[in-house]
Amino acid sequence: MDVAQLIESVVANQGQDHALLDAFVNGVADGEVAVEDATAWLKAVHSFGCSVEDTVQLTKTMIASGAQLKWGDGPPVVDKHSTGGVGDKMSLMLAPALAACGRRVPMLAGRGLGHTGGTIDKLESIPGFNCKLDPEEMKAAVNAIGCCIAVQNDAIAPADGVLYAIRDVTDTVDSVPLITASIISKKAAEGLDALVLDVKCGSGAFMKTLAQAEELATSMVRTAKGLGIKTIAQITSMEQPIGSHVGNSLEIIESIQVMQGKGSVDTRNLVILQGGALLAMTEDGLSIEDAIKQIEQSLDRGDALEVFRLMCIGQGVQPELASILVKEPKSVLPVSEHQTTVLSRQFGHVGGIDSMAAALLAKQHGAGRYALEDEVVPEIGFVFHVAQGSTIEENQPLLTFHHNQELTDKEHTILQNLVEMVKVSVPTIERLLSIVD
Ligand code: URA
Repeated sequence: MDVAQLIESVVANQGQDHALLDAFVNGVADGEVAVEDATAWLKAVHSFGCSVEDTVQLTKTMIASGAQLKWGDGPPVVDKHSTGGVGDKMSLMLAPALAACGRRVPMLAGRGLGHTGGTIDKLESIPGFNCKLDPEEMKAAVNAIGCCIAVQNDAIAPADGVLYAIRDVTDTVDSVPLITASIISKKAAEGLDALVLDVKCGSGAFMKTLAQAEELATSMVRTAKGLGIKTIAQITSMEQPIGSHVGNSLEIIESIQVMQGKGSVDTRNLVILQGGALLAMTEDGLSIEDAIKQIEQSLDRGDALEVFRLMCIGQGVQPELASILVKEPKSVLPVSEHQTTVLSRQFGHVGGIDSMAAALLAKQHGAGRYALEDEVVPEIGFVFHVAQGSTIEENQPLLTFHHNQELTDKEHTILQNLVEMVKVSVPTIERLLSIVD
């Protein structure tokens, strides 16, 4: 396996030899390519990019590295995928809400990547939750209750599983071809009819500017459509953390609140935006307004929460525990040893919350990984009591940091400065920036 030749082509900006690229990807999936060689290739692609043709070939080979789900007649098979943000917990609510609205959702998700959290790490904070489903188990779960959420495994897109884990710890995440191939290979292997891509943009995302986000959105939409999947990308702002909770088990709590018809309006609105688009894309004549109403009803009537409960049981959670979880999530999820609350020093308005600084602090305390073998600490993270645009009284709680280790003086200062206070009121955040289709 001549990885050096592949790397030379990347560095020289020449097309990569597709037979060699295929052999490399298969070698990554089989464990025959050494981690150092895979890392060197990832670093080259991250620094020098690669052509559209190579990205499409990479995606196809990553799909072919594992099984592809095939679905018989029945409701449309749909999914959404996000490029990753801070507090981005949409999948936890969307899969059950879409299933409650009659769609099949065989969701493959990832672990935390860089500073962002991952759906799988969040679900694994629920005692007993098993994300390791093989293709047959995924199909059985979807046929029984309409959805499942599984981690990519040796059976499905295994090459992405290996590359994703290496990228997480080698600073090679924010790359258009690598993100495209990673996301679209998993989604195509699910056998989807329709896909909504949530491309995050801003200081808390991998894509910092609208131009970068549009480049990534266009690359992913083209690649997915080329593979026969109806696809749109919604570019959404990641300047502010999403919703009220950030951190693995804390985001489960917030998601359950939203499926109880309560919780953060910001989070609920994103679920409605993405879910409404998928419903409308897969039913002739269904207007976006009616599609949105269906998603809202699934949250307000508790239908999505009931599917979530059944999904938990189907994926290994004890039935009694699942029933308590959906009523009182705090009583069954892990709790941190310390909770430090920051109060406002004066009357004012929230100009913004530094989502990147918050995510990095949580990661340092165990919410994310620095090395492949690291285990995340599920209970670490933030509850934000305010959001951009809130009006604040003196001594009002701004945020609570959930942590197990004592805080250093420097960390206390970081916490004090996470919420920016301003004198003049500012509008609340508008999430949807643009649509690429
Ligand atoms: N999510 C993925 O699955 N892959 C990426 O590369 C980024 C976000």
